[in-house]
This record gives sequence, C-alpha cells and structure tokens, in this order.
Amino acid sequence: MQDAVRQARDEALARIGRAEMLDELEQARSACLGRSGALKALMQKLGTLPPEERRAAGQLLNEAKAAIEEALAARREAIGAGQVRATRATLDISVPGKCRPIGHEHPLRQAEAELREVFARLGFEAVEGPEVELAYYNFEALNIPAEHPSHDSFDTFYVEGDVLLRSHTSPVQIRVMEQRKPPIRVVVPGRVFRPDTPDATHSPVFHQIEGLVVGEDVTFADLKAVLAMAMRELFGPDTQTRFRPSFFPFTEPSAEVDVYCEIGGQRRWLELLGAGMVHPKVFEAVGYDPERYTGFAFGMGIDRVAMLKYGITDIRLLLENDVRFLDQF
Ligand code: PHE
Repeated sequence: MQDAVRQARDEALARIGRAEMLDELEQARSACLGRSGALKALMQKLGTLPPEERRAAGQLLNEAKAAIEEALAARREAIGAGQVRATRATLDISVPGKCRPIGHEHPLRQAEAELREVFARLGFEAVEGPEVELAYYNFEALNIPAEHPSHDSFDTFYVEGDVLLRSHTSPVQIRVMEQRKPPIRVVVPGRVFRPDTPDATHSPVFHQIEGLVVGEDVTFADLKAVLAMAMRELFGPDTQTRFRPSFFPFTEPSAEVDVYCEIGGQRRWLELLGAGMVHPKVFEAVGYDPERYTGFAFGMGIDRVAMLKYGITDIRLLLENDVRFLDQF
C-alpha cells in the first residue's frame, strides 16, 4: 500500500512538473486528486486495511496529498507568471489563415485599359469628356439637326432643357477640336446613355471609345489601316476587318466596321464600330477650314469588346456587380 501511495505521488509530481499550460495542469490534478483519481482510489482502499497498517498508510497519503497540492499551486503560479516556457509550439501553423479577398479591375475597365494601350501605341492620346452634355455637342455640332430622322438613333435621357446624358462619345470630338488646333489624334473612352430596353445586347448605360484624327492629308486609307491594326492588336494577328457603307450625319463617307473573329469556337463577322471621314459641316462647327483639313473618326462599343474578349453573352452581367460573376475575369 505504501509503495502504491509513493508511486502515485511521484507520478503526479512528475506530471505537474511537465505541465506547460494551465489546462495540462488541471488534467494532472484531476488524474490524481479528482473523483476517479489515483489518490482518491487509494483513500477508498484505506478503509479495507487492517488497523495497524491503516495508520501509517493514512499518514503517508495525507503527506502525499499535501505535497501534490503544494506542487500544483507553485506550478500554477509559475505558469501564470509566464515563467514556464512552452517547449511545444503554442502557435498552430496548421490553422488556416484569414484570407482577405483581393479585388481586381472590372472586365469593362480591363477592356478599356487594353484599348487605351493599343491606341497609345498607335500614337493616340486618351482624353475624356462630360457624361452630362449639352444638346449642341450631342447633336447640332455633329450635324444632327433636331428634325432629322437620324436624331432618333441618338435619342437619350434629358436632364432638363437642352442638358442631357450624352448618347455617344462623339460630342467630345467637338470639345477637343474647339480647344485645339490640328494635328489631332485622340481616343475618348467613356460612358454613354440611351433609352433602350435592357436585353442581352442592349443596356441603357454602356461604354464607347471614340477616335478622332485630324490633319492635312488624312485619308480613308489611314482610317482603314489604323482600325485594321488596332483590331489585330486586340483580337489576334489573324483578325480580319470589313468596311460596309453606312450613314452617320457627322462623317462622310461613313462605314460600319465588322471584325471576323472567333466566338465560342465559331468564326463569324461581328459589327463592332461606326467610322468615317469627318464631315465638312463638323469642321465648320468648330471653325476648322474643311478645304485644308481632313480627318477620320470612329466609335466602338467597349462592352462589346469586353464581351468578345471574355466570352460574355449578356451585356447586363457587366453592370450587375455580382462578384460571383466578376471574380472570373
Ligand atoms: N457615334 C456613333 C455611334 O454611337 C459612332 C461613330 C463615331 C460613327 C464616330 C462614326 C464616327 O453610333
């Protein structure tokens, strides 16, 4: 019996000495002094001993219990005071870290940035103009008279009177020419507005990039070359471009430009731009001599470019700000 008590005591003291944290100390305590602890079991056994043995064993048990409690108290204090240095790592490096989601540019901004870059390499400076515009810049100066049928295709939202939301980036052509003298070579990315009912290919808010070049010998050949080059830069070296006769009040001649590219494994022609030679009436509106200067202009949908490049089939997705969608780009 006495040996059993000594053994239990020594084990308990050793375990207390190894405890590096309070919860380990508590485990050590309950392993000997707890309800089903080693010392408790021995105490119960005490009653079954013959009286002559009981006395000595009882005394030993009391001493052991006192020694253990003393050791517990001392160790508890040492741990609490930080005097016990944990040899085991207290930092669990296997716990997953806190992941902070890192954002990125919206696919429209990515497409715009690429367009800016492509045209910068071709010598175009990027400028911007107001989204809230005067009717004069959106229509009249661009040779779109109020009563002309073409007015309808550039219809827009009116703020009040002749203040409106621009329905294309072309008004910035006028603003740039009013402020500068040729030669001019600018692109104008920006947001535009039209009262269209939203569907997969229409949105009342969308984005365009306008191009304007004015100089003394600017020809339609320059327009074709610049656009063909830009489209190859954007969509790959095999990209073909096609010019179809069209009409815009502010260009003459005018063209619709299609790009032959691959969409969903299929190659087909896609209408991507409006373009043409700057109309003499537009030069007159800004006080340029149409006999001296010629120029070309083009306008392209940035949303269209983003949809083509990233395989997006519904323009509305670009404006919903759903991160589950945006995360993919
Ligand atoms: N502004 C025209 C549109 O929005 C596009 C265009 C720009 C056409 C410049 C010719 C020249 O449809």
